[in-house]
Amino acid sequence: MMTLHVNGTIHQVEAERHELLVWVLREKLGLTQTRFGCGIERCGACTVLMDGRPRRSCMISVAEAMGKKIVTREGLADDNGLSEELQDLSKDVGHEPGTSPQRR
Ligand code: FES
Repeated sequence: MMTLHVNGTIHQVEAERHELLVWVLREKLGLTQTRFGCGIERCGACTVLMDGRPRRSCMISVAEAMGKKIVTREGLADDNGLSEELQDLSKDVGHEPGTSPQRR
């Protein structure tokens, strides 16, 4: 069992230490706005904020993410749609929210 702090909530998830954060967020926590594109830190589809800094979740293991505050696109959206932070995050990664290739 692994403990992750995501979008202000503590989650206990069944995951192996080496599992990639992108898949744990998508498949175990249902946070599907974290997308998988290239898998090599290029496209930015998988970007989350980790302790306030943009990080590519396709290259981060669950073990590395433990103890960090993770914010996904779901955590940045506000009642009016996309927050300014989310818009900035999307610019940072050069990727529009809600678009990405499927898992390979
Ligand atoms: S999936 Fe492309 S940067 Fe992570």
